[in-house]
Amino acid sequence: MSDLPRVCVVGYGVAGKLHHRLLEAAGLRVCTVDPDLTGMPVGVHRHRPIEHSPTVADMAGPVHLWSLCTPTQSHVDVLAQVLNRDPRARVIMEKPACRAQDVPRLLDLLERHPGARVVVMNQYRHAHALRLLDDLRRHHMPDHPVTAVRVAFSKDRRPDMEAGRFVDRDHGVFGYEWPHMLAVASRLLPPDAYRAYVESPVEDVRGIVDEDYFVTAARERAVVADGVELELYSSVVGDAPEDTDVPDWARPFGHSTGGRRRLAQLQVGPALFTAEMDPVALPDGSRLPGNTHRLTAQLPNGCQETLVNDSPMDNALRTAVARLLGDLPLPPVDLRPVHRINALAGHFGHARATAAAGRLSGGAV
Ligand SMILES: NC(=O)c1ccc[n+]([C@@H]2O[C@H](COP(=O)([O-])OP(=O)(O)OC[C@H]3O[C@@H](n4cnc5c(N)ncnc54)[C@H](O)[C@@H]3O)[C@@H](O)[C@H]2O)c1
Repeated sequence: MSDLPRVCVVGYGVAGKLHHRLLEAAGLRVCTVDPDLTGMPVGVHRHRPIEHSPTVADMAGPVHLWSLCTPTQSHVDVLAQVLNRDPRARVIMEKPACRAQDVPRLLDLLERHPGARVVVMNQYRHAHALRLLDDLRRHHMPDHPVTAVRVAFSKDRRPDMEAGRFVDRDHGVFGYEWPHMLAVASRLLPPDAYRAYVESPVEDVRGIVDEDYFVTAARERAVVADGVELELYSSVVGDAPEDTDVPDWARPFGHSTGGRRRLAQLQVGPALFTAEMDPVALPDGSRLPGNTHRLTAQLPNGCQETLVNDSPMDNALRTAVARLLGDLPLPPVDLRPVHRINALAGHFGHARATAAAGRLSGGAV
């Protein structure tokens, strides 16, 4: 038991609790750092008290791996604390890696600690359901190009935010599910098309601005290489009644627990291939079992459904642990999502001070 690698989860909130549970299930010893941690953790099935400290510096004993799950605005500060303690630390950072304004500090830290190993969570790159969706497309429509990639990830975060969960006032809606949607787009678009999109200026974005939560819902459209249409939609307030920008293609799919709806869709000639990602709503108000995703192929000759059971976060964490504890070189931290969400949020910057709530055309501001 004492030979198991020890991982320290920094920030024991919603993401930290998930990391804790999955890392422990993957066979690691887990401890946590969180100044707010008191008593037994809520929502985690444990048989022994959690081992924890208020700060990174206070954590006693060896730590082989760190998992940074603090609010986004503190990721780089916490990374600096970890590297101060261990310049060769192996670190998983929750997404998004940081704010754009922290990028110079992040790069400086990485340059000054060449022995450190860092992976940013990107779980939808590891979603088997998306690979199977693409397999379905190749099987049924081998001779037709993809003409549209559509992604919609929504939830209603208001109860959580009111209960004290972190609020991303730097990026608004672009700071929560948007990095996941970029990962989905990177998985479903050809690599060149994704690169062209994520490295090009924002062309067309519309959103709803709230005076407290900043942008609460947004829809971005782009035509990427080869004329493929890309559409991304996200809301952190469910389908707000004033939000007429909810894409028509997303409306038929129900909301599941917490107002969640996570969709990825490919248009291929006359066919549509849709992945509804966990939690998937059923018509009677219940949901499919946890980590069960539904793939639907709407073909000219009928409709086919497939269920896939898979945990993208578990896949991503296990892959990250294996890579970090191994010796093979790691790819550089991909900062393109950070710059993309910063550019998207930048289209609404001027409205932050003035908007009580209003509809703005991002392209026009
Ligand atoms: N990959 C995913 O699916 C996923 C899901 C949720 C959140 N996230 C990401 O995880 C991060 C945290 O989000 P959350 O929703 O869990 O937030 P949260 O508010 O639920 O939890 C954050 C926790 O960090 C603690 N904390 C704050 N500053 C700290 C510090 N300096 N040292 C130690 N602990 C500190 C807080 O006390 C709190 O318990 C964000 O970057 C978010 O984008 C990712």
